[in-house]
Amino acid sequence: MPSLSDRKTLHVDLGVRGYPVIVGEGILGDLGMLMHRQGLSGKVAVISQPGVFELYGDRVVHSLREADFDITPLLIPEGEEHKNLQTVEDLYDRLLAAHFERSSSIVALGGGCVGDTAGWAAASLYRGIHLVQVPTTLLAQVDAAIGGKVGVNHSAGKNLIGAFYQPRLVLSDVTTLHTLPERELRSGLAEVIKYGVIRSSSLFGFIEQNLEALLSCHHAGMQLVVSECSRLKADIVQQDERESGTVRVLLNFGHTIGHALESLGGYRQLRHGEAVAVGMAAAARLGSRLTGFDEADLDRLVRLLKRAGFKLDPGPWDESEIIAQTHRDKKVHRNRVNYVLPRAFGEVEPMVPVSDEEARQALLWLRAEGGKS
Ligand SMILES: NC(=O)c1ccc[n+]([C@@H]2O[C@H](COP(=O)([O-])OP(=O)(O)OC[C@H]3O[C@@H](n4cnc5c(N)ncnc54)[C@H](O)[C@@H]3O)[C@@H](O)[C@H]2O)c1
Ligand SMILES: [Zn+2]
Repeated sequence: MPSLSDRKTLHVDLGVRGYPVIVGEGILGDLGMLMHRQGLSGKVAVISQPGVFELYGDRVVHSLREADFDITPLLIPEGEEHKNLQTVEDLYDRLLAAHFERSSSIVALGGGCVGDTAGWAAASLYRGIHLVQVPTTLLAQVDAAIGGKVGVNHSAGKNLIGAFYQPRLVLSDVTTLHTLPERELRSGLAEVIKYGVIRSSSLFGFIEQNLEALLSCHHAGMQLVVSECSRLKADIVQQDERESGTVRVLLNFGHTIGHALESLGGYRQLRHGEAVAVGMAAAARLGSRLTGFDEADLDRLVRLLKRAGFKLDPGPWDESEIIAQTHRDKKVHRNRVNYVLPRAFGEVEPMVPVSDEEARQALLWLRAEGGKS
């Protein structure tokens, strides 16, 4: 059993909706005790996917049983295509059949798909039962599990149905990342690099120096990176919980072109982080033209993304197709798409209007630059 010093506890300070985020190695077994400390008891559903539950379900169930919870494991199918209302409907059926009550809890054990789907079920059943996030992918640990965005996809688009609904606790055990397929780990690393660019030049430098160790995952550095990104995300969420200001939107750095590529590929060709990596390189190039991002820093970012194994070529779609897709983005205003662009490492500007021609130039540059090693 790890001692308390092996973990880091952060707080998302949102008054009555505030909660701890606990990051550590081998801490899954403490879940029951930690939920108890948050005042939770009684019925709990552990919502997960078969693969993740097979790996970590026993430890979670054992820990909850030791803390006297009444446990119902509920498995949902894997894949983004099942992050929908049908899966939620099925969860409602099973939760109601098991006589869940307003005071009951849901533990979301898995990546962002589980967290978002189980989170929406928790937010909507009886207008809200307790939610605990136990993220097991790098992307979910540094991003999806913190901040309260929950929801599912609709046939008309991604994440169209949902709510802001904060969990009561987030528990990130970094040892669960050891079983993550390499492509998933890399995808999460793109979001980690993003935090470095938008909020912390020292984090960016740390990733540059420890990249290989982080990619092999067997390194104390991973715990440091997950807790640092969690702290940065918590800080952003505290300042702008519902994305009504100009702070939470900073998290969209790299996501304008990233989302366009993901959606052109039908969400099957590229992992989210792979698309965001291309989007970050494009935004950095735009930054070097429009917001004074240094050419040498642009170079540093491109080099790091390539070392991390990302292909920076924008893919088989031509520039006009990609740009048309960015227009479908929520942030379009007077025919210019608003981008988040960097001024320096750790400093970004939230709403920079970019013309189609400027975006086209950045994509052409990326095609030439992305192919170079
Ligand atoms: N709510 C938010 O703020 C937010 C933010 C970013 C992304 N998201 C959402 O998150 C989703 C993507 O999440 P993701 O990247 O975690 O993908 P995912 O949830 O699909 O997980 C990826 C794969 O890894 C498997 N897996 C999970 N943990 C594992 C482990 N420890 N070992 C082995 N396999 C494991 C899963 O079963 C799945 O097959 C998208 O739907 C996206 O919209 C939400
Ligand atoms: Zn993202």
